[in-house]
Formats: sequence, structure tokens, C-alpha cells
Amino acid sequence: MKLSGLVLSLSLMSLLESTAAYPGMKNTIQEIQRRDVELRERRFLAREQEKRQAEAPDDPEAPEAPEAPEGGDNDDGSTAPVLIGDLMDGGTTPVGKTIARILMKTEQGQSLEAGYKPPLLGTQACKKDTCCVWQYISAAMTLAFRGPSGRCNKYARQAIRLGFHDAGTWSVPNKNAGKDFGGADGSIALSKTEINRAENNGLQDIIGKARVWQKTFGVGMADLIQFAAIHAVVSCPLGPRIRVFVGRKDSSKEAPDGLLPGVNDSADKLIQLFEDKTIPPHDLTALLGAHTTSEQFFVDPKRKGAPQDGTPGVWDTLFYNQTLGTGPLPKQVFRFPSDIAIANDPRARSEWESFSGPGGQSHWNEDYAWAYTRLSMLGVNNMNNMTECTKVLPMPQTTFKGAGELLKSE
Ligand code: HEM
Repeated sequence: MKLSGLVLSLSLMSLLESTAAYPGMKNTIQEIQRRDVELRERRFLAREQEKRQAEAPDDPEAPEAPEAPEGGDNDDGSTAPVLIGDLMDGGTTPVGKTIARILMKTEQGQSLEAGYKPPLLGTQACKKDTCCVWQYISAAMTLAFRGPSGRCNKYARQAIRLGFHDAGTWSVPNKNAGKDFGGADGSIALSKTEINRAENNGLQDIIGKARVWQKTFGVGMADLIQFAAIHAVVSCPLGPRIRVFVGRKDSSKEAPDGLLPGVNDSADKLIQLFEDKTIPPHDLTALLGAHTTSEQFFVDPKRKGAPQDGTPGVWDTLFYNQTLGTGPLPKQVFRFPSDIAIANDPRARSEWESFSGPGGQSHWNEDYAWAYTRLSMLGVNNMNNMTECTKVLPMPQTTFKGAGELLKSE
């Protein structure tokens, strides 16, 4: 290994996050376990009722059998979650089956798995271990994504948006028309043209960083972009630790155009656009919460840097309250018409309100993890061959300097 590689390796090693148990997570874990048990109970009851009806189909006393959910509940009146890519049959490998269960919401999309000690970067042992290099990338991203107060900064925000803008360029209608490309394939950074699309304005800096990381660490761009989007979320105080899988295929072919949402689109148009990606309204509601960290630069250039809630860089649920207009709205907050439209649509409103109410944080984190896993797998047709590397992610954090104050971005 070259000296520069060794120095980089050692300095990153020293920066690796401690994976020791983390105070404040207990409640979240308990909440996750409670919801898991509830989910299992609901499914068990549905199966039991179905059995009873099958045994005595003409018994007028037998209760009506509810639809037995194949997977978890989308709880928005839409159909149960559907499988995608090469997991249509539920997966053929252990990892494929795990991802399939996360997509179906029967297994958690968050995890606190930790305790990984990687071999030294550049060694044969590291090359043989798929997750090894990602531990060093994780250390570099922790440095890049956190500001001095412990909140997530502009690179984290851009990374979250970049993950969406790469993956969001895939749809079922396109696939059915023989255009099963786009999606989470790295093309936003690898094609020469995608970055010039107006909707990708503001992503140039983070793409520059992604190219440097790709060169330094020699990993695929599609994985790097999705890993960064997931890492950026857990870099924000209160952000969930979403399970991370690597092994996507890169493509430099320009993704299909017209599949990303517009800030002035109607609720009907936005909901259809996401339904076409297998993302129902409640999952869209969870994903839009990413605007809790965000800032706008191009919707109203006169208000460059205006955040979408009063706590930019914090993964809290204030965005949901302030978009609904409940409570005082700080004057620097800039609400997107698209967020207001979805918040007030009957297909999303109850979920929007439940994220903004008591217990909303853990409910939202759980739903975001499920919805983002789905988004990060759009257009991916080799999930059976991926590797889970969640163990390399930093632990979630609950504190930051200035909590409870009106915040300026950093
Ligand atoms: C209806 C769907 C959506 C619309 C219309 C929308 C629209 C926008 C707009 C207009 C901006 C500001 C860009 C600028 O002027 O600089 C923005 C920023 C952002 N969006 Fe979305 N978005 C949507 C969904 C999402 C989703 C699904 C995610 C992630 C899961 C996401 C993550 C972000 C982030 C993190 C930023 C902040 C970027 C920064 O601060 O530099 N958005 N979005």
C-alpha cells in the first residue's frame, strides 16, 4: 500500500465513530419493538380469521375475513406494498429475502447493528471483505456531513436529495414499456447530461464530492450515492439509522426524463408520479419529511438558503407541523407548494398529522426507513446479490448545540 493510502487509512481509522451503546436510543428501540409486535399480531389475527372462514364458509357467525396482507400494512387504504426488481418471487438468497421483507414492511428498515472492526484499508483482508472499504467511506462522510454544532450541513442535505434524484428516475409504466433503466444506477453522476437538467440544480457540489470519494475508494457510483443519502440522514440529530445494502450496478446511460416532481405540481400529479414508482401516499408523506433538513436556492432565488422548517439540519418533525401551518411560523421558513398540497390531500393528511403529533418521531423514522429502502432499490435488478453493510454506519445522535433555539443553517 502507498504511504498516502496508509496515512489516509490511519487517520480515518482514528475518526471511526464509537459504536458503544448510545443513550436515548432505548425509547426508539422499544417503540420499534412495540410496533413490530403489533404488526405481527395484526397479521396473525388476519390469518386466523381467514382460516376460520375457510373451515366454515357458510357460517353466518364467522366474521368477515379481512384481506390477509402479504406484507406489512401501507395503512393508507392503498394496496399492500409490492415487490420489485429481482425480488418479485420474494428473493432467492438470504440477503434477497431480507430486502424483500423490508420492502414488504415485515422486517425493520432500521438497525443498530455495530461492533465491526475493519481490516486496514488497502490490505488484501480489506479487499476480500465487502464492507471494509465502506467503513472508511463512512468515516470520511461523517467528517463531511456534520457541522460544528453537531447538526447535518449542506453536503448532507445535498446527499439526501442526490439519492432521491438518482433513484427517482424509474417507473413501472416505463418498465412495462420496455424501458427498465434509470433508478439507483449512479447515472446522475456518470452520464454527461443528467446533471444539466434544471431539476438537478444545486447538486453539482455533492456530485463533485462523490466523484472524489469514488476515485479515492474505488467503489461503484450507484452504491456511493445511496450510501451517502443514508449516511447523511443518520448524520442529522434524531435521524434514523437505515439499513444499508451495497452491490448495485452502475450505468452511464442517461435516465428517462420527466420522472422527478415539480414544486408546483398538483397533489394528484405528485401522488400518481410516486404511485408509478410503487410508492403510495403514506410513503411519499414519510419521504417528504426529508425537507425537515432542507433549504431552497432556486424556487425563489431572492430567498436563497431559506429552510423548510425552523430547525434546518435537524431530523425532527417540526416540518410536518409548520407545513400544516399549526403553530407560529418563523418568517425565514419557506414552505413548498408541493408539500402544502400533499399535506392537505385526504390520501396523506392523516399520516401527515400523525407524524406531527405525539409519538410522531419514531413513527416517521420507521416509515422513512422503509420508504427510503424502497426508493434506493428502484431499477435495481440484482438485490439477491447485494451485501448488507449497516454495521459501518455511525450511531444515531439525539443532541446538538442550540437545541430548542431558532436555528440558522451551517
Ligand atoms: C413531491 C416531491 C418533492 C418535491 C416537489 C421536491 C422539491 C424540492 C425543491 C424545489 C427543493 C429545493 C431545491 C432548491 O431550490 O435548491 C428541494 C430540496 C430538497 N429535497 Fe425535495 N422534493 C420532493 C421530494 C423529496 C424527497 C422524496 C426527498 C428525499 C427523500 C427530498 C429531499 C430534499 C432535500 C434534502 C432537499 C434540500 C437540498 C439542499 O438543502 O441543498 N425531496 N426539494
